[in-house]
Amino acid sequence: MKTMLVTGGAGFIGSNFVKHILGKYDNYRLVNLDALTYAGNLENLKEIEEGQKYRFIKGGIADRELVERIFEEENIDYVVNFAAESHVDRSIEDPEIFIKTNVMGTQVLLDVAKKNWVTGKDEFGYPVYRDGVKYLQVSTDEVYGTLGKEGMFKETTPLAPNSPYSASKASADMIVRAYNETFKMPMNITRCSNNYGPYQFPEKLIPLMIANCLNEKELPVYGDGMQIRDWLHVKDHCVAIDTVLHTGKSGEIYNVGGNNEKANIEIVKLIIKTLGKSERLIKYVKDRLGHDRRYAIENTKITTELGWEPSYTFEQGMKETIEWYLENQKWMDNVTSGEYKEYYEKMYNK
Ligand code: NAD
Ligand code: DAU
Repeated sequence: MKTMLVTGGAGFIGSNFVKHILGKYDNYRLVNLDALTYAGNLENLKEIEEGQKYRFIKGGIADRELVERIFEEENIDYVVNFAAESHVDRSIEDPEIFIKTNVMGTQVLLDVAKKNWVTGKDEFGYPVYRDGVKYLQVSTDEVYGTLGKEGMFKETTPLAPNSPYSASKASADMIVRAYNETFKMPMNITRCSNNYGPYQFPEKLIPLMIANCLNEKELPVYGDGMQIRDWLHVKDHCVAIDTVLHTGKSGEIYNVGGNNEKANIEIVKLIIKTLGKSERLIKYVKDRLGHDRRYAIENTKITTELGWEPSYTFEQGMKETIEWYLENQKWMDNVTSGEYKEYYEKMYNK
């Protein structure tokens, strides 16, 4: 039995990943550490039972004492770090928590993992690690900045993050890299493009547009709506992380993307059409500050070296996603009450 510490496992991608791992493997105990911020929701995991294979712990990754206690109580083999503040617009309003969680939290996880995993030193003084351990940092294509009409992000593209969010993720990547260079920490970094699918918090483009369409509310499109993102179904992302964790070469970075570039306005129109609503709902609003124009992921490394490929077509993935939101309006109502209502008023009714 191996033990995996998943952080941020009550969020959008993390909860899909918890279900993926527990559904696929019998030989894993999974410990889920999540602070349950506005974006974390135990309802996302309601079918998972606490027991021999699964334990939930409420708490933050920057809480060193707690992380140390977890490593004392559990024989952790893998750390998969999803925990983060993840929304660009919030990072523009208030960057501080992004640095605390995304940067400081990552450092705490690395440090505690290192202390617990090191068994000795080699002849040069480098730490030697227990067999079979690995730290995986779930990062983002946003660390590369923005693209013009041509080109794609490769793993070797220089980092040029533009928002406080992406700068915090790039900083975390640098720290993970440094732990590998200086301390030989076994690690991988994955940098994925935009995810969509079930359980995504409705502050993000796709669920926000679905929710507003269903409520006949205006659809706020930033700027000219011609910004391009490279969309991947969350389940394909989860399989990619699983693949990198188990077969990725230690120390390597893997880009993850579905070769699926779409302009925002195309997506909004697709949602309107699928839900049988009117394009009159579209409202062009003030652009996001520092708005990245285009992302596109070059995914050859993961597809050729590790054999991963996306399984969803965008058409199928979007159809299923829209159906999921239609069938789970109660989930939507629950997560959009309270704090989110205030956030929405502040962001969109300025
Ligand atoms: P999310 O906002 O839906 O979930 C984040 C989770 O982290 C929540 O459950 C939240 O409670 C938890 N969390 C926040 N602060 C914490 C802390 N201090 N300690 C422990 N838990 C904490 O985010 P998501 O969209 O699921 O993204 C997950 C990860 O994947 C992030 O690291 C993000 O940068 C990365 N990523 C996201 C996308 C995307 O399109 N959503 C794409 C590429 C990479
Ligand atoms: O690329 C990966 C990243 O994708 C992840 O690292 C982030 O965690 C995730 O939030 C996402 O970032 P984006 O900024 O690309 O996603 P978001 O859903 O916020 O916006 C997608 C595009 O839609 C972007 O160009 C902004 C635009 N947009 C967004 C919202 C919320 C609108 O036009 N109107 C909106 O109301």
